[in-house]
Amino acid sequence: MKADKKKVFIRSFGCQMNVRDSEIIQGILQKNGYSVCENDQNAEIIIFNTCSVRKQAEDRVWSLIGSYKGSKIIGLVGCMAQNYKDKAFLRDEDVSFVVGPQDIHKLPEILARIQPKGLLERKIWEVDNLNRPEEIYHTGFYQNPNHAYVVISEGCSNFCSYCVVPYVRGPLRHRQKEKILNEIEAAISQGITSFTLLGQNVNSYLDDGFNFTELLKEVNALKGLKKLGFFTSHPKDAGIATFKAIRDLEKLDKTLHLPLQSGSDRVLKLMNRGYNSKEYVALIENYRKIVKDGSLTTDIIVGFPTETDKEFKETCDLIKKIGFNAAYIFKYSPRPQTEAAKMVDSVERQEKEKRHKYVLDLQRKISNKLKKENK
Ligand code: SAH
Ligand code: SF4
Ligand code: F3S
Repeated sequence: MKADKKKVFIRSFGCQMNVRDSEIIQGILQKNGYSVCENDQNAEIIIFNTCSVRKQAEDRVWSLIGSYKGSKIIGLVGCMAQNYKDKAFLRDEDVSFVVGPQDIHKLPEILARIQPKGLLERKIWEVDNLNRPEEIYHTGFYQNPNHAYVVISEGCSNFCSYCVVPYVRGPLRHRQKEKILNEIEAAISQGITSFTLLGQNVNSYLDDGFNFTELLKEVNALKGLKKLGFFTSHPKDAGIATFKAIRDLEKLDKTLHLPLQSGSDRVLKLMNRGYNSKEYVALIENYRKIVKDGSLTTDIIVGFPTETDKEFKETCDLIKKIGFNAAYIFKYSPRPQTEAAKMVDSVERQEKEKRHKYVLDLQRKISNKLKKENK
């Protein structure tokens, strides 16, 4: 071990995809002779692996960067890096390098260019490359000795009108089936037994005619694998084949996370979700018919532009009717580049907060009731 190893601390924000990316970053940095610290105190370099999905997530990162008051070398990495690009340097002069999610494999090389504190050669931004090299998935480093997240597809091409993900993560790309299976088998040989397959819309997975359900079957059959889960599903692409796989594959988690977003057909259309409330309900009915002991979770956005009281009530009514075991409820946040951001953010902040609180309370009651009934 060299005594002059650069010390790095990684702060992670956002979805499971980012949890996995932070691991990937840690894996490649360690492979290249960097030391990844458990906390920020001893680190010279802080990597913020960031999320842009709501403004609040970004604000938190800017305020944390500010809290270091120039005492560390700061890297802005992940979705915010792609969102801000070189504007990040204008926003905060303490940001030393900006690296988008498709370029994280360049981090060892970028860090090597950093001179001792205060002698930064220049600020770097690397956000150009759309495809990640496959090798980054094979460092063999996972935070948890028993469980691994495995990316099956990157990016998203659905362009839900409120969502920044297609802009910061690029279009949908699928990893090759063999590469996914190789990664999982290597992790099993390391002693990992539980796996979660990740993608923004797993149901649309396709590699040379090989689809998501077929992938589930092959992964389920791997020797040494004990538990398997996946997310996120999209109501426009999930269907009977996936539900039957959930019923039949003994290692597969029976929980289905199926984001509804809104119960109003007009709002769903404005959101560009590709389904209406009736189709969503029909899908759930199928799931419940096929998977007897399943459980269901969802995501809801309140206060989408032009959402009326009546439409908000339609969302509440549908939540009651369906009875989700759990729901993640978000206040609409306008995001740069998105279609919805061109609309007036018409629901006042206070009203959004009111609707948010109302659905949180409603869902809490439903979740508790279902828990009591052991459902
Ligand atoms: N691909 C997944 C997850 C996307 S982000 C999916 O389609 O479900 C996770 C959740 O964040 C979304 O389901 C949505 O409910 C919420 N979200 C995304 N953009 C948002 C925005 N601009 N404002 C508020 N919530 C948002
Ligand atoms: Fe965003 Fe929609 Fe893609 Fe999910 S499916 S990541 S909400 S654009
Ligand atoms: Fe995930 Fe946030 Fe990026 S939800 S894909 S980390 S914008």
